[in-house]
Amino acid sequence: MKVAVVGASGAVGQEFLKVLAERNFPMDELVLFGSARSAGNEYEFKGKKLVVKELKHGDDFKDIDIALTSAGAGISKEFAETITKYGAIMIDNSSAFRYDNDVPLVVPEVNPEDSKNRPRNIIANPNCSTIQMVVALKPIDNLSKIKRVRVATYQAASGAGAQGIAELENQVKEVAEGKTPTIQKFPYQLAMNIIPHIDIFLENDYTKEEMKMNWETKKIMHTEAEVSATCVRIPVARAHSEAIWVETERPLSIEEVKTAFAKAEGLTVVDNPAEKNIQCHFLFREG
Ligand SMILES: NC(=O)c1ccc[n+]([C@@H]2O[C@H](COP(=O)([O-])OP(=O)(O)OC[C@H]3O[C@@H](n4cnc5c(N)ncnc54)[C@H](OP(=O)(O)O)[C@@H]3O)[C@@H](O)[C@H]2O)c1
Repeated sequence: MKVAVVGASGAVGQEFLKVLAERNFPMDELVLFGSARSAGNEYEFKGKKLVVKELKHGDDFKDIDIALTSAGAGISKEFAETITKYGAIMIDNSSAFRYDNDVPLVVPEVNPEDSKNRPRNIIANPNCSTIQMVVALKPIDNLSKIKRVRVATYQAASGAGAQGIAELENQVKEVAEGKTPTIQKFPYQLAMNIIPHIDIFLENDYTKEEMKMNWETKKIMHTEAEVSATCVRIPVARAHSEAIWVETERPLSIEEVKTAFAKAEGLTVVDNPAEKNIQCHFLFREG
């Protein structure tokens, strides 16, 4: 098994390397790609130094089995043919192919079977806020069909990539030093602030980030349930949070949902307010 990571220097690329090592992913070789900016840079992987190669149109993907790509939608579109033409499976983190009918949109805990039907050898990953929501929605939907979802997100700077994290860190320093914060990546100052604006505003007055949660959930969960999202950027470096309101066809009890969550893959129920341990807290209103 030979694996490639495209966009190795990025926020997502670096997480790929960490997770591949943590999970001891079975592979014989790992190859890293980036633009001319990071080509030649070295990253350590399981005690070995790997050098980033420049991504080019050519035969570099001839022996690759799986390519994990996270270099932006434009790069994914431009290089999809180069990456997949010799049979490599491209698992793409960008928004390039998420809504294409011949590209499955997959979250392994929710719809792994969809990954088997991949006529273009591309499997798309959803937006980060959709992924964590559908992992929690799936066990509920299995108990009783979900009719409607309302979600408010609390999204970290990491969602805007490595430059987003750097901008927040820099702004925190600037604010502490009494300077005017430098704004480049976010629409407003993020340090000491909260910004209800991620991606562009659309004609229906939702942002694209908010609509992605609706469009992607329908495709992944094969549902017509509408998702109304409010996506908000908060001043933390990493880890998104969400408050999710769910309406089901049949009223569910909290115990029923907790039991389903406890059995579900990818979820840990941490709900102990007495110990101030409330990563996942349930509120229930019948009707
Ligand atoms: N951050 C998240 O939480 C998140 C979540 C879901 C999806 N995504 C998606 O994942 C993608 C990457 O996001 P990110 O947050 O990791 O961004 P990032 O930190 O800005 O990293 C971008 C990566 O793309 C590479 N790249 C840019 N132009 C390239 C080119 N011409 N050829 C090869 N590589 C090139 C960069 O390499 P160089 O350093 O060599 O330029 C860098 O490794 C985006 O499509 C984003 O929407 C991000």
